[in-house]
Amino acid sequence: MRLNTDFVAWFRSVAPYINAFRSKVFVVAFGGEVVADGKFVELVHDLNLLASLGVRLVLVHGARPQIEARLKESQLQTTYVRGMRVTDAATLQCVKESIGRVRVEIEALLSMGLPNSPMANAAIRVASGNFVTARPVGVIEGIDLMHTGEVRKVDTAAVRFRLEQGEVALLSPLGYSPTGEIFNLTLENVAAEAAIALKAEKLIFLMDTDGIEEECGGSSGALLLRELTVAEGKVLLTKLANKAARLSDDAQLYLPFAVKACEGGVSRVHLINRHANGAVLQELFTHSGIGTMISEGPLQNLRDARIEDVGAILQLIEPLEIDGTLVRRNRELLEMEINRFVVVEHDGMIIGCAALYPFPHDKAGELACLTVHSDYRGTGCGDTLLKNVEAKARSQGSKKLFVLTTRTAHWFVERGFLQADVEELPKAKQGLYNYRRRSKVFVKKI
Ligand SMILES: CC(C)(COP(=O)(O)OP(=O)(O)OC[C@H]1O[C@@H](n2cnc3c(N)ncnc32)[C@H](O)[C@@H]1OP(=O)(O)O)[C@@H](O)C(=O)NCCC(=O)NCCS
Repeated sequence: MRLNTDFVAWFRSVAPYINAFRSKVFVVAFGGEVVADGKFVELVHDLNLLASLGVRLVLVHGARPQIEARLKESQLQTTYVRGMRVTDAATLQCVKESIGRVRVEIEALLSMGLPNSPMANAAIRVASGNFVTARPVGVIEGIDLMHTGEVRKVDTAAVRFRLEQGEVALLSPLGYSPTGEIFNLTLENVAAEAAIALKAEKLIFLMDTDGIEEECGGSSGALLLRELTVAEGKVLLTKLANKAARLSDDAQLYLPFAVKACEGGVSRVHLINRHANGAVLQELFTHSGIGTMISEGPLQNLRDARIEDVGAILQLIEPLEIDGTLVRRNRELLEMEINRFVVVEHDGMIIGCAALYPFPHDKAGELACLTVHSDYRGTGCGDTLLKNVEAKARSQGSKKLFVLTTRTAHWFVERGFLQADVEELPKAKQGLYNYRRRSKVFVKKI
């Protein structure tokens, strides 16, 4: 029974994400390591799930380990200039062979449809082709990088057409020039440019570490930065350039492209650990995610509630109504009183709310329904809501704010509320006081 209740609650909790993600373009980028170490099957199951929920998927793969192995086999030495491989004709041959092999393996795994597996009835159609036009990087520090290139253009019309047909687009780190040449590209360059050109909702980099982890020094280890704005990302990159910060190798590799993609209009870039079970699902379908999310501006904002927030508010307060912390409110009442509510939105999801009921005759206001989602408690969200309600009450001419609570007395006391008698409530409220519930009354002068 408990299992059923949890399952139903969980399924309902992911509904907002499913609605928000349908028909959106997600670019998922992963290195050749994912294919090399056999982890791609698990990833394919999760990608299949996303595709079946209506997400338009563009996959960008790399092939670094495979290229390295092939070069070693051919006993070819590689020269690097500013971290970029010089691709001469012999190296390009290895690059083409390695990327071709990885692409075929990916296509094969995406074609799986075994019964009794998450891929049953999946029938993913993969589209790959000459979607990326490239140009040569040219001469750097006096060295010609030859067939090493960078993205010049992504054929968005062709990719979009394929996505609209329900296909998954697969991009390789190769590009072609109008003169018919082939260029060796990096997966991060292809992924960021494709995401920008396609105006993707999300760009997801799968990496070997948990996300952007800033080393704190001493014994405290590294701190995972769960959210980062573009401005914060740029500060970190400057610190990195000045050797004032240290990041993992792949964080150093992906962060500049993540920042670039956000600046180019991609709503969110996620950097997540590919080794975590269901990494993509955990990142996308849970409030807190598992990696680092980068966005242009701050993700959290406080605003007046709107009628379309009613469902989300009901979902937020439901567990607290069940355990008796809050008084039950039905949908009709909430719809009628929605203009009394303020909400805190985090990345498009409602994670906190509070209501103010004015009693103008008594120059008083009631704070009610103060709730913060359990994943976001202890981060000052409750305080922000309280301050907003206080300011609102003050602007309406109230001199005091009162609250009725059964379990949160200390939280209010620590914020300047004093316990009071029921008789101190406005007369209209006294008439409604539920003596069975025996809530405590707290009042704050504002
Ligand atoms: C009360 C509530 C809104 C606070 O939200 P929040 O965003 O966690 O608040 P803040 O981050 O501003 O404050 C967190 C602090 O409050 C403390 N706190 C949380 N709930 C508390 C409670 N019931 N009693 C006393 N202190 C409490 C936390 O321990 C934390 O203190 P710390 O930083 O010293 O550890 C949130 O805990 C909640 O939604 N609770 C359930 C609903 C509820 O009780 N609402 C009030 C109904 S009248």
